[in-house]
Amino acid sequence: MKKLWGGAFSESTADLVDRFGQSIKTDLHFWQEDLIGSVAHARMLGETGIISKDEAKILIDGLEKIHEEGPRALDIDVEDVHTAIELRLKEIVGDVAGKLHTARSRNDQVATAARLFLHNELLIVLDLIKSLQGVLLEQATAHKGALMPGYTHQQHAQPITLGFHLMGHFWGLQRNGWRAERLFELANYSPLGAAALAGTGFPIDRHMTAQELGFTAPIPNALDATSDRSFILDALHVCALIMIDLSRISQELVLWSGREFGFIKLHDSVTTGSSIMPQKRNPDMAELIRGRTGRVIANWVTMATVMKGLPLGYNRDTQEDKPPLFDSLGKIKDSLQLIQLQLESCEWQLQTMANSTRGDFSTATDLADFLAASGMPFREAHEVVGKVVIGCNERGITLEDLNESNLKEIAPEIPSEALNVLKPEDSVRRRESYGGPGPKAMATQLALAAELHAERGFLKIA
Ligand code: ARG
Repeated sequence: MKKLWGGAFSESTADLVDRFGQSIKTDLHFWQEDLIGSVAHARMLGETGIISKDEAKILIDGLEKIHEEGPRALDIDVEDVHTAIELRLKEIVGDVAGKLHTARSRNDQVATAARLFLHNELLIVLDLIKSLQGVLLEQATAHKGALMPGYTHQQHAQPITLGFHLMGHFWGLQRNGWRAERLFELANYSPLGAAALAGTGFPIDRHMTAQELGFTAPIPNALDATSDRSFILDALHVCALIMIDLSRISQELVLWSGREFGFIKLHDSVTTGSSIMPQKRNPDMAELIRGRTGRVIANWVTMATVMKGLPLGYNRDTQEDKPPLFDSLGKIKDSLQLIQLQLESCEWQLQTMANSTRGDFSTATDLADFLAASGMPFREAHEVVGKVVIGCNERGITLEDLNESNLKEIAPEIPSEALNVLKPEDSVRRRESYGGPGPKAMATQLALAAELHAERGFLKIA
C-alpha cells in the first residue's frame, strides 16, 4: 500500500496493520472538501511567498483537474483520501506536488475537511427539514377542522383535530432546524494551518485560508484545532434528535395504518407486501426508520466514548469519527425524505378519525369546565363529572347519550344547559387558548408557522 510516510522505516508494515488502519472507504466521502481545503492552502502558500506563485498555480490547476476527473480516478489502495489525492496530484503535476504539504499536516487537514463536509451536509439537512415542514403545514391547513381523538397515555383524552396534531410535528422539526443552525455556526471555525499540533515556523496566514473557505475565523489554539471533535458530537446529537422525532412520527404511521385505528391509508409506493399473506400492506419504511433510530443514537454514544479518554493532541482514535458521522447524516437525509413521501401520498381516513371520538368520554373535561365556569371549584366539578362517568357506564351509555332525564338521575346538581358542551366538535371549537386547536387559535398558529416557514432559516420559534 502506497503511503505518504515511511522514510524512517526500514521494514514495511504488516498487511493487517494496513487494513486495520485504512480509512479511505469512509473518508472518500469528503474528497471534494479535502480538495477545496488544499486549494485554499496552496493559494495561501503562494500569496505569502512560502512557495512561488507559479508553483501555487500548478498545484491549484492540478487539484482542479482531480476534481474534474472525479473520485474514480483516485487510487484507493492507500491509507486515506489525503494520500490518494496527493499521489494523484504527483502523477499530474510531478514533484512540485510535494510542496503542497508545506506547513500542513493531515491532522489539521482532516479536521478542516470534516468541518467543511458537515457544513455542506447541514445545508442539505436544513432544506429537507423545510421541505417536510411544508408538507405538514399544507396538510395541517387542509385538515385544520378534521376531528380526531387527542391522546394521553395512548388513551383518548380530549378531542383535537388532525391539523392540530400535524402541527405538533411541525414545531418539533422547527426546533431541530434551529439546533442544526446553531451547530452550523458553532462548527464554522477553521483548523487549517494548525499543522500537526503546534502551528508552524512558516509565515502562513490562517485568516486568509479561513476566509477563503467560508469559515468565520481560524480556531485560536492550534492544539485545540487538531484535537476538537465536539462539532462531530454535536452533529451526531442533532442527528439523533431528528431521528428520534422521525421515529415518533413513524410509530404513529405504523399504529394509525393498522386496522384497529384505520386513520391513514399509506400509498402503494411506500408500503410492501408479504411473501405469504396476500392481503398485507406493511408500513416497512416507518418501521425501518423507527428501527434505525437505535443506530443513530448509538453513533453519538460511540463517538462520545471515543472522545472521553483522549488527551489533547491528535490521536488516531479520532479517525473513528467518520463512520458514525456519515452513517447518521445518511440516515436522517433518507428518513426525512421517506416521512415526506409517506405523508404526501397518504389518504387520511377522516371519517374514521371523527367517528372514533364518539362515545369516548373525551368531553368529560368540558363538562367539568362548564361547572367550574359557573362557579363550582374545579376539584369539586371533577368529582361530580367522575360520578357522571360512572353513572353512564352503569347504564351502558356515553356522554353524548345524556338527556335531561338521565342527567337529573345521575347528577341532579348539574343544570341541563351542560348538555350543550358534550359534542367533540364543540369541545374543539371552544379551545381557543393560545396554542390550542380552536379555529381562531389554530389560524394564529398556522399564520405564525407559515411566516417562519417562508423565512430562510430557523433562528426563531416565535
Ligand atoms: N485518517 C486520519 C483520520 O481520519 C487522517 C489523519 C491521520 N493523521 C495521522 N497523523 N495519522 O484521522
